[in-house]
Amino acid sequence: MTRYSRVIGTGGYLPDEIRTNEQISQIVDTSDSWIFERTGIKSRRIAGPEETASSMAEIAARQAIEAAGCSPDDIDLIIVATGTPDRVYPSTGCLLQQRLGIKNCVAFDIQAACSGSIFALSIADQYIKSGAARKVLVVGSELCSRIVDWTDRGTCILFGDGAGAVLLTASTEAGILSTHIHSDGEFEDLLYCPNPQVATKSNQEEAGYINMRGNEVFKVAVNTLGRIVDETLEANNMEQSDIDWLVPHQANTRIIAATAKKLKMSMDNVILTLENQGNTSSASVLLALNEGVRDGRIQRGQVVLLEAFGAGFTWGSALIKY
Ligand code: UT7
Repeated sequence: MTRYSRVIGTGGYLPDEIRTNEQISQIVDTSDSWIFERTGIKSRRIAGPEETASSMAEIAARQAIEAAGCSPDDIDLIIVATGTPDRVYPSTGCLLQQRLGIKNCVAFDIQAACSGSIFALSIADQYIKSGAARKVLVVGSELCSRIVDWTDRGTCILFGDGAGAVLLTASTEAGILSTHIHSDGEFEDLLYCPNPQVATKSNQEEAGYINMRGNEVFKVAVNTLGRIVDETLEANNMEQSDIDWLVPHQANTRIIAATAKKLKMSMDNVILTLENQGNTSSASVLLALNEGVRDGRIQRGQVVLLEAFGAGFTWGSALIKY
């Protein structure tokens, strides 16, 4: 019998502070209308001074575990996707394991920038399908506000903080139908965040902030995500009309609209969280999935396409029968 990974619980966490476009317009030369028209963003959440990737991950994870009707001790693997780990080590996965009080499981982080949650889902799916794990907690958690240069209007308008989580279980019922992940290290210069503490002598002047050539990233993202739609449909022998929901990485409404168009899908079938969350990097797809599930739009048995694109470049998709 085929062994699938099935989503049995979702969770999400957004910090309290709301930072609006108007507030950002007081810091850099921009406007609410420019930001909203070019990106679809109106506001984003900013973590408090005592919050970390692991503290936000814990709240999202506990929600997912509760929604699944499980206990933390049922989990045998934790995978955290983050570009803003609490510490270089231990991994945020281990810190989350400690917070959840789980003695007997494996925990680690993966780093694939904004595609992190898709990469983590893909890894989780391989572990479950192979029989190496039964219940896997996947979390994306990001403190983008701490690695954004608040004097750079090209990036500070885009990003926000938050965490999303899913609990997967091994099942004979269909769940994740396929995952597709890719990387191309050629594009480092278009989108990167330096790590000044370990920089070489010649790079020591670089601050640890996100650097992005937005317009060039935009073009590659649109083309690449179009290709991942084709790849996913083809691998599953499906047509565009077989997909009920698109749950995209939330970077820019115009990128998302291009993917929806490729799927011949109305924007009514796209879960959009961008307007009030901005781009939460590896957390965004799981936050959007959580929203669609909790508000009842995504129903059991429906086919959901998750996709993301980020620094690396990295990109990927997960097709799920929810
Ligand atoms: O999540 C990981 C992947 N990241 C992405 O997918 C992000 C992809 N990129 C984008 O979403 C868009 O490229 C941005 C929203 C970042 C920028 O939008 P754009 O339409 O590509 O604008 P642009 O960079 O081509 O800039 C157009 C103009 C420029 O002025 P000039 O040279 O035409 O005079 C910029 O200086 O807009 C200017 N500009 C701004 N103006 C007001 C750039 N940022 C701002 C701003 N406010 N915040």
